[in-house]
Amino acid sequence: MAVQSLLFSLAAATLASTAAAATSGEFSILAMNVAGLPSILNSNDVPGDKATNAGTIGTYFSEYDYDMIHVQEDFNYHAYLYATDDHPYRTATSGGAAIGSGLNSLSNFDWIDFSRTKWATCSDASGADCLTPKGFTFMRAIISDGVYIDFYNLHADAGTESGDETARAANLLQVAEYIDTWSTGNAVMVFGDTNSRYTRSLDNITVFEIENGLTDAFVQLEHSGVNPTVEVDCDNPSLVNNCETVDKVFYRGSKALTLDATYFNYESSKFLQANGSVLSDHNPITVNLTWSVGTTLRQSGFWGGPHGTWFNDLDSIPASPKASVLSFSGGSRLDAVGLTLADGTTFSHGGTGGTAVSLTLGSSEYWTEAELCQGKYSSETRNFYILATTSAGNTLSAGTSTSDCSTFTAPTGWQIVGFMGQDGDEMDQLAFIYAPQ
Ligand SMILES: *[C@@H]1O[C@H](CO)[C@@H](O)[C@H](O)[C@H]1NC(C)=O
Ligand SMILES: *[C@@H]1O[C@H](CO)[C@@H](O)[C@H](O)[C@H]1NC(C)=O
Ligand SMILES: *[C@@H]1O[C@H](CO)[C@@H](O)[C@H](O)[C@H]1NC(C)=O
Repeated sequence: MAVQSLLFSLAAATLASTAAAATSGEFSILAMNVAGLPSILNSNDVPGDKATNAGTIGTYFSEYDYDMIHVQEDFNYHAYLYATDDHPYRTATSGGAAIGSGLNSLSNFDWIDFSRTKWATCSDASGADCLTPKGFTFMRAIISDGVYIDFYNLHADAGTESGDETARAANLLQVAEYIDTWSTGNAVMVFGDTNSRYTRSLDNITVFEIENGLTDAFVQLEHSGVNPTVEVDCDNPSLVNNCETVDKVFYRGSKALTLDATYFNYESSKFLQANGSVLSDHNPITVNLTWSVGTTLRQSGFWGGPHGTWFNDLDSIPASPKASVLSFSGGSRLDAVGLTLADGTTFSHGGTGGTAVSLTLGSSEYWTEAELCQGKYSSETRNFYILATTSAGNTLSAGTSTSDCSTFTAPTGWQIVGFMGQDGDEMDQLAFIYAPQ
């Protein structure tokens, strides 16, 4: 399980009934291609019965208890894998080979906003990558109260013919562009089977570093921070960590969350059959990461549903922010939220409908609390209502209250200075950004 050190602020500790949220912790991840293509199609050079082997892998998942596991090629032996694994949160399979993507996540963390995306490009130049709809998955995992990381699992096109490399570069770019749209401002982890190596320059595996600002945990911890220029392949099982596999782990923090990889290891020696044979043709990779919430910016939990387009004010907040004007619009539901900071920075999200209302705050008055109420519209969940309360007890509301509400309160001595979430004509999903007063 994730170790979460509870750092109580003096103020919170004196309020016996207020449980302080964890502000730092550590977790582990595992990336593993489980070689689950039907054995008549591909033995994956793994001896033994694939169903038995899948059950053994699941037993190890339970025993070693990694906090977030991404599997690839989890096709036709999926039920055996899940039968012996005991992680509390797991994705439902998208199907066997030819139907599903083989991508699943097994986690100690719950998540929101899970989605599966197919590759726009595939190549049968070598192998049969177009046989099954491979691609990537996205989920926003809840590491702790107000602590989220966007996790991406992927399985890119295989092979080294030029058609393969073109397809693979397109796959990796598709994930990078998705991150730019759907994870703006957020902490991100991308791990799985990239089928790429740094020496396969046409693949553009550096796209995650260049376009998304992600760090490769292998390069950081086992390669002195320098991308490999010579291909050093791994044995299986690998007894050393300084060789490179096509399975990779990338990550970044955010302005509200520091993330740092502290440990990298090929776990192959811990994933063997009773007689010592391997369970997969890939070396599984574990990475440990430490996290801590920001000292100048943090965030609340989310309310509403995963519809509309992602937005995030986090990267646009100036130093020493303070809300001076709140402006909302609502009617039957919540149409829009906005605020103007003391330095003139303006944020505005949602549509143009509804009745506009606003509240101007005094020079020593802070926006400290917000209640959101959600409901269903056209069978999709969105925010129907907001009630803002300031440190002086003034309030501003918009929309129509429902029976499904949540109150977000800035930590003691902090205030609300911005928003993140998903919007369209209305406020589909919303969270608040906190800064010290
Ligand atoms: C990795 O993190 C897990 C979960 O916090 C912990 O149990 C384990 O001891 C860590 N391993 C190392 C080598 O730091
Ligand atoms: C281990 O057992 C499997 C399944 O019975 C078998 O196929 C494989 O050859 C064995 N490996 C060794 C090293 O004996
Ligand atoms: C490689 O990545 C860079 C940086 O994002 C991008 O500009 C370039 O178009 C990519 N090349 C290919 C072939 O995808």
